[in-house]
Amino acid sequence: MTATENVAAALPVATFTDAMSRLVSGLAVVTTRQATGRPCGLLVSSICSYSVHPPSVLLVVDHASRCRDPLTHCAEFGVHLLGSAQERTARTFASRGADKFADVAWAWDGTVPRLGAAPIYLRCTATAVFDHGDHTVLIGEVTHTEVAEGEPLVCYQRQFDWRLKRNGVRHP
Ligand SMILES: Cc1cc2nc3c(=O)[nH]c(=O)nc-3n(C[C@H](O)[C@H](O)[C@H](O)COP(=O)(O)O)c2cc1C
Repeated sequence: MTATENVAAALPVATFTDAMSRLVSGLAVVTTRQATGRPCGLLVSSICSYSVHPPSVLLVVDHASRCRDPLTHCAEFGVHLLGSAQERTARTFASRGADKFADVAWAWDGTVPRLGAAPIYLRCTATAVFDHGDHTVLIGEVTHTEVAEGEPLVCYQRQFDWRLKRNGVRHP
């Protein structure tokens, strides 16, 4: 066993997840089309800008996610960065509901399910996939963006409704 594996084995999961819950993150719904033709999507916080040339994003999907297989085999996927009014949408896509798309406005953008209300939309071509531990890393090249102004939905210590402060005043 290597020194790295020794350290990882000794660290309790809760210690790690508690530390990482203190990293402020935006929230995104990632969507694609399943082999059946049905849409699928999940909420992720593990998303970031990856390269500028080409423009690409990186996100991480749990092996237990039902979206993992469709996302690792798709040609395209969509990333929807959520706005502060979309806590309900976040909770829907963080669930394992039978039809997460039943109560949200959406339409096909080619093979990508596009959520209507999300202020930021990125259509991505899937370009790389690799596994590490119990998660899969996906890299997507961004081919199209739509951006509307508005406050983001921000997650901190497992709370979705955390608000940005401006000039020390907490926003309602
Ligand atoms: C705040 C928050 C952030 C999450 N981030 C991720 C993530 O980055 N990657 C992931 O695979 N799951 C993440 N999840 C969990 C999935 O959204 C959840 O497991 C979902 O039920 C998966 O749906 P599916 O099985 O239909 O794909 C997150 C959940 C929450 C509440």
